[in-house]
Amino acid sequence: MPPSVIAVLAQLPDTFWMPPSASSYSGDVDRVFYLILWICALMFALVAALMTIFVVRYRRREGKAPPPAPSFGTALEITWTVIPTLVVIVIFYFGFRTFLDMATPPPNAYDIQVTAFKWGWAFGYPNGHVDNRLHVPLDRPVRLVLRSEDVIHSLYVPAFRVKKDVVPGRYNTIWFQATKAGEFDLFCTEYCGTKHSDMATVVVVQEPREFERWLDDAGNWAEKLPPAEAGRKLWEIRGCKQCHTLDGSSRIGPSFLAIWGKERPLSDGSTVLVDENYVRESILDPSTRIAAGYENVMPTYRGRLKDSEITALIEFIKSLAPAPAEAGTPTGGGEDGQR
Ligand code: CUA
Repeated sequence: MPPSVIAVLAQLPDTFWMPPSASSYSGDVDRVFYLILWICALMFALVAALMTIFVVRYRRREGKAPPPAPSFGTALEITWTVIPTLVVIVIFYFGFRTFLDMATPPPNAYDIQVTAFKWGWAFGYPNGHVDNRLHVPLDRPVRLVLRSEDVIHSLYVPAFRVKKDVVPGRYNTIWFQATKAGEFDLFCTEYCGTKHSDMATVVVVQEPREFERWLDDAGNWAEKLPPAEAGRKLWEIRGCKQCHTLDGSSRIGPSFLAIWGKERPLSDGSTVLVDENYVRESILDPSTRIAAGYENVMPTYRGRLKDSEITALIEFIKSLAPAPAEAGTPTGGGEDGQR
């Protein structure tokens, strides 16, 4: 083969069949993949070539009777039993070895709690910070503990060659060690409803020191922003956005636009004033009072949002009311009017 062809073939792992390889065991996964691929390609070539030769050579000809059916041949039987068995054992050996590596996280792995929900991800760090992008340190084993709020999702990072179902009612774990800094795609790869495709996000691999700095900063970002702005960000990253719009249109839940201080009709025929306590209750015990015309589908955020975060969301909803005077309610929050 000319050198250029070899160069192109050597490039294949990153370009043609596979995405970039960026974890400690992605090379092993690729080797198993290429082993199986090339065995299949060789078998295909062998079968196709023999078939072509036999079709031409043993074709029916005028005045020539077909030969009798071949008799049983022990040597042949043994050959075509033993060779495929060996091939399968080789594939099993390399596949199982890699599988065991992938299934056994090293004891010093860094734990990140992953929650999948319709439709997004929440990555929880040891210091309590929750993000919707997965930040991980470079060259350090990371273990993800996966759980689902609702239906089956599946976490997939092609560049790391990791993929695992996220199943409600149980914990699944996976681990990897990122070997390249940068951003890599992370997908949900189990169809989980209308906005399944919204579950695409990224893994950000950072130098350990940079990662620590990010985590320190990220852990208290909400406190550094004005509450209403923090609330808007929480709405974006903590899953509110999937169901509650800001433009007045209804999705799975009512919009947040201009609801503050208004009376809201409920599914049982009564009404409720949208104030601090109602918003707080709707976040912590969403099934207590259901807005008329909506399903009781919201999961509780009890234990998932800090008190200060709930306050920020309340301030955010308040900031979406048209103007305090127009609302004409007795609720005197005192600090609305930030914008
Ligand atoms: Cu979650 Cu698809």
